[in-house]
Amino acid sequence: MNKVKKALIPAAGLGTRFLPATKTIPKEMLPVVDQPILLYVVEEAVRAGVEDIILIAGRGKHAIEDFFDRSYEVEDQLLKAGREDLLSRIQKIRDMVNIISVRQKEALGLGHAVFCGQPIIGKENFAVLLGDEIMHSEPGEPTVTEQLSKIFIETGVSTVAVMEVAAEDVEKYGVISAEKTPEGYFRVRDVVEKPTPDTAPSRLALPGRYIFTHHIFDYLQNAKPGKNNEIQLTDSMRGLAQNQGLVATLFQAKRFDAGDKLGYLIANIELALMRQDLGPQLRQYLRGLIDDLS
Ligand code: UTP
Repeated sequence: MNKVKKALIPAAGLGTRFLPATKTIPKEMLPVVDQPILLYVVEEAVRAGVEDIILIAGRGKHAIEDFFDRSYEVEDQLLKAGREDLLSRIQKIRDMVNIISVRQKEALGLGHAVFCGQPIIGKENFAVLLGDEIMHSEPGEPTVTEQLSKIFIETGVSTVAVMEVAAEDVEKYGVISAEKTPEGYFRVRDVVEKPTPDTAPSRLALPGRYIFTHHIFDYLQNAKPGKNNEIQLTDSMRGLAQNQGLVATLFQAKRFDAGDKLGYLIANIELALMRQDLGPQLRQYLRGLIDDLS
């Protein structure tokens, strides 16, 4: 199997959990510390060798397109102000990767969002990275997409990331039914969307990182609305699991569910603590806050 060169990032959800902030801005464009959530996701894909990003956008599509485009005005002002540091950061973003944006006209579900990329992806293998999940890997460590890519190349079948969650949390995710292989990953037999704790086949949940062969489109093409009346990606993954094959692997990275309010706040705090320019002061502030609270 060849290296994955294309990645699809769905960013067309309604972002209802973040209203009113998301009335005009897609939640993927909300900043975590000083860059949009989406940039963390794009950086992960780029580190894995992805060359083309297919961005599925809805409302606020132009805000996303403009972010990855050249801004003559901003660049000119930074140049005149002698802010080479910021200028090179801005230029790096626009030169990072080729972005192709596609509109999902209606938020019919994640499965539908992925299917919107079919005319561009065609028969290629591709990665999917949810646009509101940040997977932090230290520099030099393989990103989650790289970890998936390695297994995908070895096995030749669609490969997805899983994580073990508490029994009471299975209802928030797609959950797999699988057997462990001697190589240490899982051969998936079935995928269930948001099961109740008593019906869940395991506690292995899908956080939003996948590599698919083009066969996923065959299932998405005929997909009907499932749970919550949405076209679910998991329903089509079942087709892959039962026909072409699907494997899952536990990933190594610090995951932040930035699409959830608490997860978003945690991402801001933890990623700021990792920064040299903000970490020491924030740590001191948090220590003082904890002392005041106790
Ligand atoms: P979520 O379910 O977390 O996003 O979808 P949402 O629907 O925007 O969230 P709430 O519940 O209303 O707050 C996971 C990812 O899939 C994208 C979202 O933008 C998010 O990045 N998505 C979801 C689409 O692109 N299209 C859809 O129809 C649904």
